[in-house]
Amino acid sequence: MSTISTTDYRSVYHFSPKEKWMNDPNGMVYFQGEYHLFYQYHPYGNTWGPMHWGHAVTKDLYTWEELPVALAPDEHGMIFSGSAVVDWDNTSGFFDEEPGLVAIFTHHMEVPNDQPVQRQSIAYSKDKGRTWNKYEGNPVLQHEAFVDFRDPKVFWHEQTKAWVMIIACGQTVCLYRSPNLKEWTFASEFGAGIGSHDGVWECPDLFPLAVDEDKQQEKWVMLVSIGADPAFKEGSRTQYFTGNFNGSTFAPDEDSLTVRWLDHGRDNYAGVSWSDIPAEDGRRLFMGWMSNWMYANQTPTEGYRGVMTIPRELRLETIHEKITLVQCPARELEQARTPKLSLYNVNAKEAQAYLGTLELESYEMEAIWASEQPVEFILRCSEKEQTVIGLDASKQVVYVDRSRSGIADFHEHFQGRHTANIQTQNREQHLRIYVDASSVEVFANDGQAVITDLIYPAAEAKGISMACVHDDLIFSSLQIYELCGGR
Ligand code: FRU
Repeated sequence: MSTISTTDYRSVYHFSPKEKWMNDPNGMVYFQGEYHLFYQYHPYGNTWGPMHWGHAVTKDLYTWEELPVALAPDEHGMIFSGSAVVDWDNTSGFFDEEPGLVAIFTHHMEVPNDQPVQRQSIAYSKDKGRTWNKYEGNPVLQHEAFVDFRDPKVFWHEQTKAWVMIIACGQTVCLYRSPNLKEWTFASEFGAGIGSHDGVWECPDLFPLAVDEDKQQEKWVMLVSIGADPAFKEGSRTQYFTGNFNGSTFAPDEDSLTVRWLDHGRDNYAGVSWSDIPAEDGRRLFMGWMSNWMYANQTPTEGYRGVMTIPRELRLETIHEKITLVQCPARELEQARTPKLSLYNVNAKEAQAYLGTLELESYEMEAIWASEQPVEFILRCSEKEQTVIGLDASKQVVYVDRSRSGIADFHEHFQGRHTANIQTQNREQHLRIYVDASSVEVFANDGQAVITDLIYPAAEAKGISMACVHDDLIFSSLQIYELCGGR
């Protein structure tokens, strides 16, 4: 008789819905002490289906409260991806005394024997996102030529005092402007002949960031996710551009003439940033869907399917003279820590002996060392399974190898090793690794490169060890914290 599965790969500190299918994060907005997460949700199935907006909130970025579905399909179709903003000055006229939330999303309508129709609509909430009213004038924006016309991300552009929408249009993005979120005027199109066109463009975002923390030097960052195409074994991925934006037109930097990936793993897709983070906080917080359209419908979870990345802070830094998007875990996650191992100035042999005593499933590991020697950590391991995370300073690479990480037979391209180039000269090497029931997220050398990968190890594969290092390699710091969450 078969035994009952001991794990459903349920993450401890990452958000996943209690049941059923989830994909993209939507409508991420901070309002009155809560970070809202809406998400592409199919409440009646564990695979993609008629899309609703699911809803969850968090106050600390690791304990999530799931709320009832926010938006359901209607006469205009399914509710595809989009964004939400706080209408502080009641530009929309939807609100009375208090400011409220406005969601801007794609209505996707299936048409028998024809192409589907994608149009943009809005809805508003006067009760902190708990209930929503769809605008009676929906849809508010349509296009005659684009079949793929979706995923509006809206922000207030203070310099030109207008709402700006960036929206995916097949193989480009378009920018629109509005005084009131209801009437939209075309401003510009971007993307022809630049960046990756390996798949349909989806889920764009556009926001300013200081370069090297210098507020005088600001650049705009554009995120564009590109859908899976069977010709590319990487599946769906997210690219970014840096440049200047004047309220209407985005002009890319020279650095952006070659393709630049947000993440070098396989499982960080459709991510965008939170709107309305208070100015005194000042961070640009990001979260992605931790999956890949190549196999998203086949991952081996039961009862639910879909999980988000950890919330991350995005920054711009000059690395090798290029303005580069770097990511680090949102600092709130430090509050979820329970220290399990804390070593300073320890050699590899001693460190390995300590690691061998640990068994952990959901944790953070931070290692710092100054050496050209390659270092490999072997996580979520048992006799049969292991996930290998390595940094080789002499080769200037970081990698995750999930070839033997557990269940992988649901897709031919799931197994494999994912590598990123990093700058390693004249510095200590630094790995921050977040491990959960079914994922690893690796931040190398202060977030210069990130690798996000799903893994499906057996519940008992909890071992931790190290390999390929000289016994006398010294870790100036090696820390392990168990991480708790809201579940
Ligand atoms: C991206 C995406 C979006 C679309 C949504 C549908 O993953 O394809 O472009 O709005 O998912 O669920």
